[in-house]
Amino acid sequence: MARKVHVDGPEPAPADERPIAPVEQASERAWQAQLRPRTFDDYIGQRELIDNLRVSVRAARERGWPLDHFLFAGPPGLGKTTLANVIANELGVNLVVTSGPAIDHKGMLASLLTSLGERDALFIDEIHRLSPVVEENLYPAMEDFRFDLFIGDGPHAKAMTIQLPRFTLLGATTRMGLLSAPLLDRFGFHWQLRYYDLADMTAIVRRSARLIAVPVDDGGAVEIARRARGTPRIANRLLRRVRDFATVEGDGTITAGVAAGALDRLAVDHAGLDTLDRGYLTVVCERFDGGPVGIEAIAASLSEERGTLEEVVEPFLLQVGFIARTPRGRVATAAGYTHIGLTAPAKAPTGGGTQGRLF
Ligand SMILES: Nc1ncnc2c1ncn2[C@@H]1O[C@H](COP(=O)(O)OP(=O)(O)O)[C@@H](O)[C@H]1O
Ligand SMILES: [Mg+2]
Repeated sequence: MARKVHVDGPEPAPADERPIAPVEQASERAWQAQLRPRTFDDYIGQRELIDNLRVSVRAARERGWPLDHFLFAGPPGLGKTTLANVIANELGVNLVVTSGPAIDHKGMLASLLTSLGERDALFIDEIHRLSPVVEENLYPAMEDFRFDLFIGDGPHAKAMTIQLPRFTLLGATTRMGLLSAPLLDRFGFHWQLRYYDLADMTAIVRRSARLIAVPVDDGGAVEIARRARGTPRIANRLLRRVRDFATVEGDGTITAGVAAGALDRLAVDHAGLDTLDRGYLTVVCERFDGGPVGIEAIAASLSEERGTLEEVVEPFLLQVGFIARTPRGRVATAAGYTHIGLTAPAKAPTGGGTQGRLF
């Protein structure tokens, strides 16, 4: 649901999270919100994007113009929602937060848009899930700040145009490929967020540890960073778990040894793969003989949603080079086999992942 929030307001449930128990989800959300950067200076990594945004935000502020509509794409947890908050904060405007599936009819879109003040920002998460009717009505709003309504129906219906405030649309999507071309065209700017490298991940762990006043040494920060799948949300989640282990079993300081011990027990391996990631690899290697295999077959074998595999699991396995995509389906690479302790058959590709760059 949409709420008008100031930038430090409470968080809506991230719909792109993997399912966890409701109680845990609420406290996890509060935890992540507490660690959320508020300014460009606070936002670690994604330098090229941030440099571009700084310029646009400054120009908009100096001229009193609304900022261009921006779209951010990328796997869950890389900082899309955070960016929307940071941008609104840096612009000094309100942010109204909603998501594609939450806007279930045209009237709801109208009420969201008319609730905006001049230059305010509307954040639509999972924007690829807007219904076609809502999406069509968004076009004139984005282009001309205009909304067309029909009052009444049948022969007595009257057309009416509402002039909207000049607002900024901030969109986020985990599935850039599912966005329609007309919608994409109406964004002034779109950007694919990348997994963070080890240096940025380490900086994020340090920053979060500082905010929650948990002592972490160099080795401890790197160990958590390395195992967090290049994803800030995961780094924060792991930090919390490791802190608990450090408190109960150590002297409270997170060292490399404490972190490694805790993460081993949480079934996060040294490349950051969790149970589902390894399950995916195991299914491809063992049940499907390394592939090529279609995504539907993998999803059925794992009893997992296809969408979760495509949005969360595969981007990372591709990035680290454990799987590859071919026209006939997914294949496990030699590195993928080795990672789960199997001997790679001769046919397994060596893989073009960028693990070296990441880790
Ligand atoms: N660039 C960053 N620097 C520091 N922390 C970050 C950064 N990006 C994300 N985070 C942290 O990761 C968490 C998840 O980010 P979020 O914006 O919710 O991801 P997304 O919307 O892409 O799923 C945030 O709560 C924030 O604490
Ligand atoms: Mg989000």
